[in-house]
Amino acid sequence: MKEQLNSIRMQAEQELSNVGTITELENLRVKYLGKKGELTTVLRGMGSLSPEERPVIGQLANEIREALEAKIDKAKEELSKKERLNKLEKEVIDVTMPGKRKMLGKKHPLSIVLDEIKEVFLGMGYEIAEGPEVELDYYNFEALNIPKNHPARDVQDTFYINENILLRTQTSPVQIRVMENKKPPIKIICPGRVYRSDAVDATHSPIFHQVEGLVVDKGVTMGDLVGTLKLFAKSLFGEKTEIRLRPHHFPFTEPSAEVDVSCWNCGGSGCRVCKNEGWIEILGAGMVHPKVLEVCGIDPEVYSGFAFGLGVERTAMGRFNIDDMRLLYENDIRFLRQF
Ligand code: DAH
Repeated sequence: MKEQLNSIRMQAEQELSNVGTITELENLRVKYLGKKGELTTVLRGMGSLSPEERPVIGQLANEIREALEAKIDKAKEELSKKERLNKLEKEVIDVTMPGKRKMLGKKHPLSIVLDEIKEVFLGMGYEIAEGPEVELDYYNFEALNIPKNHPARDVQDTFYINENILLRTQTSPVQIRVMENKKPPIKIICPGRVYRSDAVDATHSPIFHQVEGLVVDKGVTMGDLVGTLKLFAKSLFGEKTEIRLRPHHFPFTEPSAEVDVSCWNCGGSGCRVCKNEGWIEILGAGMVHPKVLEVCGIDPEVYSGFAFGLGVERTAMGRFNIDDMRLLYENDIRFLRQF
């Protein structure tokens, strides 16, 4: 039995010196020291030994087991060190390899213009208001002094959810919602999406954007409106820009005007961009109609106000010389990259 033990020892040590991985090492441990391992099997047969031999063999077996265990542990430590080093070496980053270029997006021209508009009015102390795009007929038309069958409804045909609910055709209903909830002084702009049942072409889209403005306080005059719009036009289109008001009709303002700015391309002398007019229309405006104030519970004898509404698409197309509105919605990166 002694010889058997010694030969197991020699064989185990021999195999140990050839082990290259931790898995192999683990297999070796099981082969010799495991429950069904060779050393264990020999020790099981000790029952057949004489009482004198038993402690001698027992001691030898234990020595061999301890020696093997120590060697295996040491080999394991060395192997895991080696494996870690290998891994680190493999993971070295080659900083000279060519990189992958990140595609950076750009701000959409509508967002650029919208942000500029917001900045101008926030600078003048305006707050930003919002209203629903799915709107009641009452707010979109009735309360704005556009009763059923009023001809102003013709040019603002829209998508109806039912008889009383529609997709808003303008941001003007937000005027009513704000005045219902807040007493003057009121100074807001409302940027937002609006809808009309228009066919798509170079200057029309069934979905587009407007910015509404509303100021209500004691003693607000048409002079305040003109001064505000002048500052706005100069901030957006350049210091030399002039504005011009032409009498017009909107049901919710009185008096009302269409507002032109001097052409950003030729400065007013006439060119292709302004169709030789020297002026380009950018918005509608006026003094808030007394009936509209009244509907919102604001006394027109005490308060007055002005309002304006401008199209964001039209402004952006002017600012960037874009001649087809559809380009703004196609999201072609080659187009958007230019701004
Ligand atoms: N809501 C009008 C439109 O869509 C534009 C407008 C004109 C708004 C005059 C106003 C205003 O606030 O005073 O055609």
